[in-house]
Amino acid sequence: MIKLVPGLFHNEQNTKRNLAKFITSTDRLSIGPECAGFERQFSTWQGRKYTVLYNSGSSANLALIQALINLGRIKPPDKAAFSAITWATNVMPLIQLGLCPTPIDIELNTLNVSSQKFADALTQHPDIKLLFLTNLLGFCGDIDRIKRVCDKQGIILIEDNCESLGTVYQGVKLGNWSLASTFSFFVGHHMSTIEGGAVCTDDAELARMLTLVRAHGWDRNLEPEHKQNIRAEHQIPDDFFANFTFYTLGYNLRPTEITGFLGQQQLPFLDHIIDRRHHNYHRFHNTLIKNEDIIPLATDHIDIISNFAIPIICRAPKLSRQYIRAFTQADVEIRPIMGGAITTQPFYKQLAHAHSPMPNAELVSKQGFYFPNHEGLTEPELALLHQTCTTAPQPAAKQLI
Ligand SMILES: Cc1ncc(COP(=O)(O)O)c(C=O)c1O
Repeated sequence: MIKLVPGLFHNEQNTKRNLAKFITSTDRLSIGPECAGFERQFSTWQGRKYTVLYNSGSSANLALIQALINLGRIKPPDKAAFSAITWATNVMPLIQLGLCPTPIDIELNTLNVSSQKFADALTQHPDIKLLFLTNLLGFCGDIDRIKRVCDKQGIILIEDNCESLGTVYQGVKLGNWSLASTFSFFVGHHMSTIEGGAVCTDDAELARMLTLVRAHGWDRNLEPEHKQNIRAEHQIPDDFFANFTFYTLGYNLRPTEITGFLGQQQLPFLDHIIDRRHHNYHRFHNTLIKNEDIIPLATDHIDIISNFAIPIICRAPKLSRQYIRAFTQADVEIRPIMGGAITTQPFYKQLAHAHSPMPNAELVSKQGFYFPNHEGLTEPELALLHQTCTTAPQPAAKQLI
């Protein structure tokens, strides 16, 4: 089978050996210098001042929303807009933390929110205070224009970049277009620490709050200078009490030293991983845009496309069933497009307010799926995938329901 996730890690055997050596020789596995080392290296790689590491991308999303609330930059029940196609744990924190979730439909030719769709949403909801964009499957819309509108109107823009690590738009990495961005290092994503996630930002105050939120709302992981400041501000007399002072609302979302160690082991391969995915994607792109069964994606505006799977959105449900059958018969692992139109998921229908229809997101959910794109695909596998993209077999008439 051609699998979506080729293995646990890049350079798997060596990484496992190094991990075993690390575990047997260290006397510390709870958050410590390995996590701090990976945070520093990832900040440099991403080109952001601060990285706060978490135990998952979902935790990073939750922590970011909680940190913005703790700082008073957003206040429940403010309206928080989000991309209608995303992952459940992008939207769940908005609901859990008392914000008013406000979906924005995506464009069919980018699978992402555009400045036009954002403008339409603002006409309907001029009181949007936060926009949590999802950069879906390595693609983006005109995020530069979206940022300009947010800057002008005082709307906080943040990016969920869990699916687009390494994509570059107008010379800038996705994840660097906003106040803060989240990342996932889950095994199925671009770079694996088994489970893991991060928030990146250039905002020092936000980075400190993200650190407090990560661990119980206490100050133990702050830099000494900031510990001193927060203790003075709250008149905490000494270390004895300070270590058990809880300053703000938090969780325990800490990664372990295994996350930090693996992050540092995998990061040197990241540029290669992205390069392979970019080149693989372009091998398929030209074929896919010529196939009249499939809705073409516009990607000329993106410099580097870094996705972990390649989407196919068919022009009709019947076609999508044919292509799904073709990929399944070719023994290729495929999946629906992420969480699909998240507004149709049971949790959302149960808990969120009514909203206008999201026709594009719903079409993508019903008529779309994705197939593997990773650095481990061999030439014969790429050829088979290519052939399956171009020639979906005609099913027997009675199978066409
Ligand atoms: C857009 C998006 N956000 C967040 C997540 C959650 O990441 P994690 O699995 O690390 O919790 C995912 C997971 O696939 C995702 O696709």
